[in-house]
Amino acid sequence: MSPKKEYGDFQTPLSLARRVAALVAQKEMYFGAIIEPTCGVGAFLEAAAELFGTSPRYLGFDINPDYVEAARAALARIGPAKGTVQQRDFYTTNWKQFLSDQAGPLLIIGNPPWITNAGMGVLKGENLPKKSNFQGHSGLDAMTGKANFDISEWMLIRLLQALQGSRGVIAMLCKTATARKVLRHAWLNGLDVGPSSLHLIDAAVEFGVSVDACLLYTHIGFGATGSTATVYGSLSADQPLRTFGLSAGELVSDLDAYRELRDLDGQEHRKWRSGVKHDAAQVMEFTQANGYFINGLGERCELEDDYIFPLLKSSDLANGRLRPTRFVLLTQRRTGDPTEQIRSIAPKTWRYLLEHADQLGRRGSSVYTNRARFSIFGVGDYSFSSAKVAISGLYKNLQFQAFGSAGGKPIVVDDTCYFIPCDSKQEAEFFTDLLNSETARRFVSSLVFTDAKRPVTVDILKRIDLKKLAERAGQKCAAIDYLSSRSLKASQQPLLSRRNL
Ligand SMILES: C[S@@+](CC[C@H](N)C(=O)[O-])C[C@H]1O[C@@H](n2cnc3c(N)ncnc32)[C@H](O)[C@@H]1O
Repeated sequence: MSPKKEYGDFQTPLSLARRVAALVAQKEMYFGAIIEPTCGVGAFLEAAAELFGTSPRYLGFDINPDYVEAARAALARIGPAKGTVQQRDFYTTNWKQFLSDQAGPLLIIGNPPWITNAGMGVLKGENLPKKSNFQGHSGLDAMTGKANFDISEWMLIRLLQALQGSRGVIAMLCKTATARKVLRHAWLNGLDVGPSSLHLIDAAVEFGVSVDACLLYTHIGFGATGSTATVYGSLSADQPLRTFGLSAGELVSDLDAYRELRDLDGQEHRKWRSGVKHDAAQVMEFTQANGYFINGLGERCELEDDYIFPLLKSSDLANGRLRPTRFVLLTQRRTGDPTEQIRSIAPKTWRYLLEHADQLGRRGSSVYTNRARFSIFGVGDYSFSSAKVAISGLYKNLQFQAFGSAGGKPIVVDDTCYFIPCDSKQEAEFFTDLLNSETARRFVSSLVFTDAKRPVTVDILKRIDLKKLAERAGQKCAAIDYLSSRSLKASQQPLLSRRNL
């Protein structure tokens, strides 16, 4: 593996370090010490020394001895600044001890490595913190140490914890999702973090990587602990775009919009479901040509109709392509169903599955372990409802879609999508119109973090109170009819009577 990758090594251009240092100098009076814990060639030390001059001590560390030399030289260029740059491994440093030994207030500045622990594992890197369940991951992930996190997230949390009891500012570049997770961790764990902000940067321009990134700017020991952070569109913007933070223990991406519409944050009258999961698109998904199914391997496949269903995927929903051109082979109607009967009901399908048993057997996810052969997941009666209102979890455009059947079969969606099962297309259209209303969009937008890998989640969708939304739209009566209909039973919700609606 290239050392650059293992060490998450993206050196900050001096021009960017200077803009960050200028922003800090605009806001803060003075520092006793300025520390760059993974300093690389020392762009931040150099930029800070240019602005803060000779009074603070400058302390830089990096694991790479060549960088340490370069950073020493960078600091020396500024002249008589007091400082040391040493080779040091972040993971074995006692940061609490080290920081409390420094005269404050402290500025911790820089740009921690850009890589995840899993990425490093895949790359067989050795440069990892000792296994620790620092984000409180539960179950299997925690036991196996598989929970995925950014190394910078781990480092930033370490620094925040180490700064507790001291007075200091953290100004570090990282992914915006990382900045958010770090602040969320601090807020939920009652750490002392004062005024906080995210200042977006263009990582494609600055580092040549396509990722949402920002400067995370936060205060410790300033006596104004909070659980909100302001987002600015750039390092030079002086008007915030929005404020995100915790509300009743949950992260909200736009607190002002959320507060205005918070009455919509209510009951999940209809259960949101995930689409079907099979983890073998090449084998289980097909297009159709000249009466044959063609799988993702380009093979012409002879299959009975019994287990084949029309399929819509995230890109279809996001782009309004609601006439399915793909099909999926669903071996079960419910998770846990046996699959052996396929052999007699649909012998060609069974043969096809046997021919591709290797690929299906290689599926890594633990949801297939100890299950019937060729099992799928995320499937139930709800998957086969005659109509659905659905949304992609992956797209930022928050477009809900209504659809019914195709070729006499219910259309299903894949596991990148979420849906509510409906009894009729009319019902699906009713909920879709409500969910695509301006009010609903503003409410969902106030909860969604568009830079997340999966901006829309079940946890967000289930907060939309369809009844209250209908009331706002003057559609209460129609909503009551649908919400008390029999598909509630199918979706295992307690049946609402007209009285308690
Ligand atoms: C994203 S680069 C940023 C460097 C510098 N802060 C800058 O902004 O230009 C990350 C740096 O972390 C260093 N690094 C990686 N793992 C480290 C570790 N375990 N301890 C100390 N430094 C480490 C790398 O050598 C690299 O210089």
